[in-house]
Amino acid sequence: MAGSEDRSFEAMRLAARIAEEFRREIAVAERTPTSSYAEVIEGLRAPLPESGGDAVEIIEDLNRLAREGLRSPSAPRFFGWVMGGSHLTGVAADFLTSAWGQNTGNVQVSPSGSAFEAVVVDWILELLDLPRSASVGVVTGATVANFVGLAAARSAQLAKRSWDVEADGLYGAPPLRVLIGADAHTTVYGALKFLGLGAKRVREIATDDLGRMLPSDFERALGEDDAPAIAIGQCGQINTGASDPFAEIAPMAREAGAWLHVDSAFGLWSRSSPKLKHLAEGLDLADSWAVDGHKWLQTPYDCGFAIVRDVEAHRRAMSFSASYLPVADTSERNPSDYVPELSRRARGFAAWAMIRQLGRDGIARMVESNVEVAQAMATSMAEIDGVELVCPVELNQFMVRIGQTDDIAEGDRLTLATVEQLQRDAVAFAGPAQWRGRWVIRFSVISAATTPEDGDMTVEALRKAWETVRNAN
Ligand SMILES: Cc1ncc(COP(=O)(O)O)c(C=O)c1O
Repeated sequence: MAGSEDRSFEAMRLAARIAEEFRREIAVAERTPTSSYAEVIEGLRAPLPESGGDAVEIIEDLNRLAREGLRSPSAPRFFGWVMGGSHLTGVAADFLTSAWGQNTGNVQVSPSGSAFEAVVVDWILELLDLPRSASVGVVTGATVANFVGLAAARSAQLAKRSWDVEADGLYGAPPLRVLIGADAHTTVYGALKFLGLGAKRVREIATDDLGRMLPSDFERALGEDDAPAIAIGQCGQINTGASDPFAEIAPMAREAGAWLHVDSAFGLWSRSSPKLKHLAEGLDLADSWAVDGHKWLQTPYDCGFAIVRDVEAHRRAMSFSASYLPVADTSERNPSDYVPELSRRARGFAAWAMIRQLGRDGIARMVESNVEVAQAMATSMAEIDGVELVCPVELNQFMVRIGQTDDIAEGDRLTLATVEQLQRDAVAFAGPAQWRGRWVIRFSVISAATTPEDGDMTVEALRKAWETVRNAN
């Protein structure tokens, strides 16, 4: 047994060496997976192991078999989807989280895991300048944070009609209304689906060119019915980075007694910067917020925060009890009272480490720098002949379209060919998306590792990719 334990410790050291080598490699060069899913799985398929193996060999095989199919979202010129940089300090804390093996469902099962989370949630409320008395669930990401916020909304809004949804479910419940911006993120519809509120049973609010709700339509929708309403706003649209006009719509929601939930996976972090805070003005009047740690806080995957003003509704929607589960002291924060899971990762350690690493100042400077780099990239790209900026840059997300042609199909073809070429050239990574029925190349600048030089290199990479496509046509 001692021999195999030694091999396991050696495997841990090997894993740390492999991790360091990988992160050093991607710190200087974008990395495109050289193996597809099909190739990785082909190398991997094997009969179910009948007996155990050697720890070092297992980790060596893991590295060999996974390596060629790994992307590099933590690389400085990775602009795909909306991915934070998984900062090395957070990764180091995450190593320890795994090694310590703290199941942070309950204060007594992990006093430290629970205490770190309690401090982190206070820091998060302060960083984002949200009501300090709000409760916060530390979850896997904004998808689950949306689910938690909307579960609390459902509970509170049905309680207004004396309906206990936790006890009695939705059968025979008084109707609820859901108002949602027409450019909301797909995961919010997912949350509505999970909660039995219906992804299609919504009143969509018309939006402008940047995907922001039109206050006039919001006001109209609020007045259409007197059933309790849940309104879902957005801070940081996935394509445009724009936020709903909360200074106008939040008071309207309040006046109408609607619960306002804000999906703000990344946009909420603009409140950490005195320079950018105005972009999310009025958002503090909402009732619940979903935000990611693994985006602009740069924690490793996964980490998100579900923030709810009405602590009782939050706990009602999430907490459970059993005789074998110790009851937390009133002075203690029991982590599982605010999330859907009981057994759970101690995400507070990595989040705490990242807030220590960057500090209030560092977070604000990173967000500001990412926004400046996005703006500079967009401006320079728009100066390239044949490249068009789709809309003004509001935050850190922007889109370009290639070809400058009125022929939509031809523009789509050139845009998709250019993004494929950009990915093949592997200097920088960005992906395609559709916006208002047209294909675009979408850039998300959201990493502490990204510098203005990375932005310049990416502009050049786009110029070259487009030139290659143009010359081939
Ligand atoms: C606006 C918005 N909402 C929700 C999500 C889902 O977040 P996650 O994938 O972290 O659960 C995202 C992800 O990019 C997003 O941008």
